[in-house]
Amino acid sequence: MSDLMTHAERPDLGDRVDFNVWPAYNTHGDVLNRYWERLYDDFPEFQFVLYDEDEDVVLAEGHTIPCTWDGTPDGLPAGIDGMIELGVALREEGREPNALSAMAIEIRPSAQGGGLSRAMLEGMREIGRRHALGALLAPVRPSWKERYPLTPIERYARWTREDGLPFDPWIRTHVRLGGEILRPEPRSMRISGTVAEWEAWTEMAFPESGEYVFPQGLAPVAVDREEDLGLYFEPNLWMVHRVE
Ligand SMILES: CC(C)(COP(=O)(O)OP(=O)(O)OC[C@H]1O[C@@H](n2cnc3c(N)ncnc32)[C@H](O)[C@@H]1OP(=O)(O)O)[C@@H](O)C(=O)NCCC(=O)NCCS
Repeated sequence: MSDLMTHAERPDLGDRVDFNVWPAYNTHGDVLNRYWERLYDDFPEFQFVLYDEDEDVVLAEGHTIPCTWDGTPDGLPAGIDGMIELGVALREEGREPNALSAMAIEIRPSAQGGGLSRAMLEGMREIGRRHALGALLAPVRPSWKERYPLTPIERYARWTREDGLPFDPWIRTHVRLGGEILRPEPRSMRISGTVAEWEAWTEMAFPESGEYVFPQGLAPVAVDREEDLGLYFEPNLWMVHRVE
């Protein structure tokens, strides 16, 4: 039997996460990394795992943060970076949240493709209900965007299949579960590094300044050799699930 357990209920399970789902470059967010550990320290009842008790294994991890939202696409913060800053500031100022934002869902690679994402999204909605937060926002990272790094997210997010559902499998999963598209976010997560760091993260060489497509990148990275800087912005799509 699998159970959803929050970090507040079972902090030990967080230490049992022995898988990584992210490409190397993706774990170096300028803003996200500054605040990530605070999710566990300051918001433990908003972090959770899907735990398989019989196998004694953590199948997936989910991260959320309480926030404020005025109900409009324009009222959303600047990407996942802006959202984590908003959530932390809200707590520090002691103000009341009225919504919840997803930060990430990470499914154990051997368990991907088996429909667990539905339980994880349901888990996020359940956390929203427990805290009387009326909306679950999500800066969605479209799974197949890495196949189309040169296509602007504004266009990619509009692609549909013959049955009318979104082309992207992860956007499609959100829509099937009642998610509505709010707006694309071309610069959701900022990742900067030296040229050597970017070369190590991507296992590529960047001999000249310019834009490069790289494996598993959702958009190109801009390399400036004179400044010794690689700069990347991960695009996301803002969606919302209503929480009764
Ligand atoms: C994205 C992710 C959360 C999806 O969870 P999942 O349990 O693997 O997905 P599901 O089995 O529920 O499938 C969801 C949809 O994606 C499709 N899908 C799943 N795995 C796929 C794969 N490897 N390649 C292509 N499509 C895939 C499924 O077919 C399904 O779409 P469909 O039913 O319309 O065909 C999971 O793969 C993951 O953790 N990825 C790495 C981290 C990440 O990108 N997280 C999301 C951003 S925070």
